[in-house]
Amino acid sequence: MHSDAERILISEEQIEKRVKELAAQLDKLYEGHKPLVVCILKGSTIFFADLVRNMKAPIEIDFMAVSSYGSGTVSTRELIVKKDLTTDIKGRDVLIVEDIIDSGNTLYNLKKMLITRAPASLNIVTLLDKPERREAPIEPEYKGFVIEDEFVIGYGLDYAEAYRNLPYVAVLKRSIYEN
Ligand code: IMP
Ligand code: MG
Repeated sequence: MHSDAERILISEEQIEKRVKELAAQLDKLYEGHKPLVVCILKGSTIFFADLVRNMKAPIEIDFMAVSSYGSGTVSTRELIVKKDLTTDIKGRDVLIVEDIIDSGNTLYNLKKMLITRAPASLNIVTLLDKPERREAPIEPEYKGFVIEDEFVIGYGLDYAEAYRNLPYVAVLKRSIYEN
């Protein structure tokens, strides 16, 4: 285990098993369709790569980088699109792949924006869900694991851009981000 980790929360084996289960559910959902699977950069990259490799549906992929700006209420927070899709999603079945839903603000605003482009369907799959921290009314259709309100790293998730390549999800030691 990494010395900055407090404890491993979700092991490589647990992740692998759950990713396969999610891929099977998504294959069933998209049977007869060709979904556009969207990786939300950068945190989702590892989960996305494992998830799509386990899906048998004839998918296409695209990438997006977003963040939300401002500390006001959900409705006043602005979505910053740092990198947009290159695919026209009108009439497409879109699956958004996220690493973690925390306050939900980013995803709430992203979903609202993408819906204006008239996709045939829009679903969200997140590896992790921290429901205790939710501010925006958003509920992912598919989730890997529900976790407590703790700061986690690894399997794509970072703290100050570090730890994304850890193969497991771990709780970060408080001493790393406090003081
Ligand atoms: P929110 O749902 O708009 O609050 O933002 C979610 C984003 O915050 C995620 O995509 C992550 O980049 C980041 N985030 C939230 N919680 C954690 C965590 O525990 N570890 C690492 N990143 C996190
Ligand atoms: Mg992120």
